[in-house]
Amino acid sequence: MKPIYLDYNATTPIDPEVAAAMLPCIREHFGNPSSAHVYGVEARRIVEEARGQVASLLGCSPGEVLFTSGGTESNNHAVKGAARALRRRGNHIVTSAVEHPAVMEVCRALSAEGFEVSVIPVDATGLVDLAALERAIGDRTVLVSVMHANNEVGTIQPVAEIARLARRRGVLVHTDAAQTVGKIPVDAADLGVDLLTVAGHKLYAPKGVGALYIREGVRLETFMHGAGHEAGRRAGTENVIGIAGLGAACEAARRDLDGNRSGCGRPGTGCRTACCAPSRACASTVTPNNGCRTR
Ligand SMILES: Cc1ncc(COP(=O)(O)O)c(C=O)c1O
Repeated sequence: MKPIYLDYNATTPIDPEVAAAMLPCIREHFGNPSSAHVYGVEARRIVEEARGQVASLLGCSPGEVLFTSGGTESNNHAVKGAARALRRRGNHIVTSAVEHPAVMEVCRALSAEGFEVSVIPVDATGLVDLAALERAIGDRTVLVSVMHANNEVGTIQPVAEIARLARRRGVLVHTDAAQTVGKIPVDAADLGVDLLTVAGHKLYAPKGVGALYIREGVRLETFMHGAGHEAGRRAGTENVIGIAGLGAACEAARRDLDGNRSGCGRPGTGCRTACCAPSRACASTVTPNNGCRTR
């Protein structure tokens, strides 16, 4: 008997629609998006279409979307890039006690570079102590990084409120939204964040691709040096296959999000197909923890 897979926080299977979007890139559109000839132009078109699809889901402009190799890289780029870019202004970072290692370990590495890190505790339900967070923000604070939803217990943090507190003090805000993008509405402007992490394999795209929302005007230290890919922000030939998959996954999420959230599995509630199919994790309501995204 095939075991039933329920660990959608760890990873999700590639959606057939996502696989279909990737297939032409595997079979024929192998060009380098930086090439000027017809093969390159087609690859560039695919990358930019996907950028638009990610931007639509996040409610931002395509120029604010940077493609990365996944959640870990996006978090590294956001936290190190912001902290180092603002080093002259201050050396203090605020984060929470329940961050994924892809933020926690980055903060640890930065503390070895001379940054001070305040780790804000959470209550019994995993919610960040807002009063403690506000108290922790000081004159030397350059970044607040608090995840959107926790990968172990699913607690959704009040990121919009955190962003208001931080931005009142002129402090940049990053949120690791690896567990929420594609599962609940995530609008970068509504959240008021400057930086937001997307991990492809948590929303039915392949592993090894992700994105970082960088609010227009926010400058990060260059993370990957090399040629001028991604508008000079991340060197390296784009992962066209993965990017096409991420774009398709974001497109599907944007189209289906409301239906998926309105009472999955119950007749007449907007859940259009069998979310209880063997490859799906299903619960009666969709939370970041049960990973259901049905069509
Ligand atoms: C909250 C959170 N952030 C970051 C990551 C890392 O993402 P990736 O596996 O794409 O590097 C994960 C993956 O488990 C996660 O759950």
